[in-house]
Amino acid sequence: MNRAPIGIFDSGLGGLTVARAIYQALPNDSTVYFGDTARVPYGPKSPATVRRYSLEITDWLVRQGVKAIVVACNTSTAHALEALQDATIVPVIGVIEPGARAAVRANSSGRPIGVIGTAGTIQSRAYDRAIDAVAPGTEVVSAACPLFVPLVEEGWFEHEATRVVAAEYLAPLLQRGIGTLVLGCTHYPLLKPLLARVAGPGVALIDSAEETGLELKRLLAERDLLAPGDADRRVFHRFAVSDDPERFRTVGSRFLGERLAAAEVVALGGH
Ligand code: DGL
Repeated sequence: MNRAPIGIFDSGLGGLTVARAIYQALPNDSTVYFGDTARVPYGPKSPATVRRYSLEITDWLVRQGVKAIVVACNTSTAHALEALQDATIVPVIGVIEPGARAAVRANSSGRPIGVIGTAGTIQSRAYDRAIDAVAPGTEVVSAACPLFVPLVEEGWFEHEATRVVAAEYLAPLLQRGIGTLVLGCTHYPLLKPLLARVAGPGVALIDSAEETGLELKRLLAERDLLAPGDADRRVFHRFAVSDDPERFRTVGSRFLGERLAAAEVVALGGH
């Protein structure tokens, strides 16, 4: 079982930022990544639909023989994590609890914590609950930023249009005096330099990817599931998508920070 791959999934490309952190935290482990590119975005969809899609994907990952699953999508974590944990035989972790923990740790000033994400993530209040569980009574100010995902997919990381949109979205949070800003969506780490300039030097930006990689490492160690670091190991990273593998490969390389291997196409849920 230790040599079995780790399953990672997202609504599309964004989860590759989490995959990158997992490769760093667990260099001896293989992975199978599924990007639901046929049905992205999850952000504006209903909780029931996101849950159904997420269950179909975890079911597929389990059939690929994974030893654990990382829900590398904030919207899916917000709407489906518990349902996935109940329905799946392998351990399942999401990105919200690790992100909340990292935010509380960074927020030593006691100022409010800002959270930005998709409409679904923000409406679910999943970050508010996760932050409250770690540091009860912390003030959380959140904002949905639905235009960020298409801007990132367009590659407009430093575009003036993105700066104007960011200034508009962040203004109410900055007015409330946030000391920390959680990038509660897989796409937002690619906007980090721009968001840091808009938010100003007094605001710490938190990206849950790194913390999620460390949480996964802890979980696998606890269950004696870490891959052995022997010399004959063959680490592989496999990619599957529900549509358009070519676009996944070209745009995905920006998210992963390295060239992506070809992705296979897998049809789920009869679409
Ligand atoms: N992966 C999604 C998230 O982290 C963003 C893209 C989408 O809306 O599907 O919330």
